[in-house]
Amino acid sequence: MTDSSILSAIILAAGKGSRMKSDLPKVLHKVAGLEMIFHVINAAQSAGVSHITVVTSPIQEDLRNNILAKASDETLTLTVQQEQLGTGDAVKAALPLTGNPNKTLILFGDTPLMRPDVLQQMVEHSADVTLLGFMTDTPEGYGRIICEAGNPVAIIEHKDADEGSRKIKLCNGGALAVNAALLPDLLNGLEKNNAQSEYYLTDIVALAHAQNINIGLVECQQEDTMGVDTKSGLAKAEALMQTRLRQKHLDNSVTMIAPETVYFSYDTVIGPDSTIEPHCIFGIDVNIDISVTIKGFSHLEGVRAKTGAQIGPYARLRPGTHLGVNAKIGNFVETKKAHIMKDAKVNHLSYIGDAHIGEGANIGAGTITCNYDGYNKHLTEIGAGAFIGSNTSLIAPVKIGEGAYIGSSSIISDEVNADSLALTRAPLREIEGWSVKFRMKKNKSDEKKDK
Ligand code: UD1
Repeated sequence: MTDSSILSAIILAAGKGSRMKSDLPKVLHKVAGLEMIFHVINAAQSAGVSHITVVTSPIQEDLRNNILAKASDETLTLTVQQEQLGTGDAVKAALPLTGNPNKTLILFGDTPLMRPDVLQQMVEHSADVTLLGFMTDTPEGYGRIICEAGNPVAIIEHKDADEGSRKIKLCNGGALAVNAALLPDLLNGLEKNNAQSEYYLTDIVALAHAQNINIGLVECQQEDTMGVDTKSGLAKAEALMQTRLRQKHLDNSVTMIAPETVYFSYDTVIGPDSTIEPHCIFGIDVNIDISVTIKGFSHLEGVRAKTGAQIGPYARLRPGTHLGVNAKIGNFVETKKAHIMKDAKVNHLSYIGDAHIGEGANIGAGTITCNYDGYNKHLTEIGAGAFIGSNTSLIAPVKIGEGAYIGSSSIISDEVNADSLALTRAPLREIEGWSVKFRMKKNKSDEKKDK
C-alpha cells in the first residue's frame, strides 16, 4: 500500500453471541475496560484504516446506539445483515457502504487481542487476497489453510474437513485483506453447499485461486485472533490482555515487584520510574507522571497524578482526582472530583469529594467533606497551607482561608478566614471525684438486687 491508498475495514458483529448467555451484545463486553469491538476498531485505525463499516443484526439496536455514541460519523458507518447467513453474506451487506477503497480489511468484532502491527503487515502485503494464519497444536474448530507448494489455495472449515485436512495445523485466523476491486465478484461467487448451509467468507480463497489471483499469508500468534464466545473466553482474553499491558508498563520503566497482581486498563498511562506495589487496580482514564509511588491495594479511576505524588496503601481515588507534585494520599482515603495541590497531604481515613485543597495544606485523619445534601453536591475549598485537625466535618459549600487552623473534631459550616483558628468543640468540663461517687451508688444498688 502506498500513502495515497485508501484503506477501509468491515467488522463483522452480527452473530448471535448466545453462548455468552447475556443481555449485553457480545462485542460490548469489556476487556481491560474497553468494549471488545472498540479494541478492534482501534487496531484497525492504528493500522491506517480511514473508514469502518460495522455489520450488525436487526435486533442489535443497543449495539448500534452504543457504537454511534462513541464514534464519529465520518470514520464509521453501521449496516444491518438481515439474516445471519454466514460471514460471506455479512461482508456482502457492508459492501455498498465501504466507499471506494483500494483495499478492504475484514475483521471480526469479537477479537479484542488483534494487534495493529499484524493488520499493518496484512495491508502492506502485495497480494490481492491476504489471509491471516497461525500454527497450533489445538486446531479443533478452526478453518484449515490448504497450501500447495507453500502457497495458500483454499480454506476448509473444520465441520467440512475430512480426517486428513483436520490434521493440518495451519489455521485461519479469520481476518482478510482483499483488493477492493476484486471483492464484489469474489463474494458473488459464494455458495452455501456446505455443512452449515452458510455463505462462508473463507471460500473466496479457493475462488481467487481458481482465477489465478495472487494469495498471500501473514502469520500471527493464536491469541492475536482469539474470538470470545463465552464468559470463560472473556476471562481468558482479559488475562492475556493484562499480560500484554503489564509487559508494556515494565518496558516503559515502571517498577512492579509483583506485576501479575496489578490490573491495568487499556488506556492507563504511567511515567517512567513510577512504582506500583502489589494488588493495585487501574480503572479507565488514569494518567500518572514520572516517579509516582502507588502503594499496595489501591484502586484508581479517572485520576491525574503529577511527579512525586504518593498514593496508598489502600487508597481509593475516584474520577476527577488530580494530585499535584509530591501530594500525598494515605491509607483508607477516598477522593472524588478533588484537586489536591502540590505538597498537600491527606494521610489517613478521609473522604475528600468535590474539593480543592491548596498547596501544602494538611488534612488530618478522619476529615470528611460533607459534599452532598441529598439533592446537590457542593464544593469545599481549602486554602494553601491550611491545617485541618483530625475528625473534622466540612459541611459544603464551605471555604477555609489560607493558613487557617481548624481544631480537631470541629464541624465547620461557615467560611473561615485566612490565618484564623476555628473550632466548634464543646469546652472541656471536669467534675472532680464524680466517678468515685458514681461507682459507690451503683455498687449499693447491686447489693440490694442480690438480696
Ligand atoms: C471463522 C472462520 C474460520 C476461522 C475462525 C477464526 C468463516 C466461515 N470461518 O469461523 O475459518 O478459523 O473464524 O476464529 O469465516 N458473523 C456475522 N454474520 C453471520 C455470521 C457471523 O456477522 O452471518 C460474525 C460473527 O458475529 C463473528 C464473525 O462473523 O464476529 C465470525 O463468525 P463465527 O461464526 O464466530 O466464525 P467461526 O465459526 O469462528
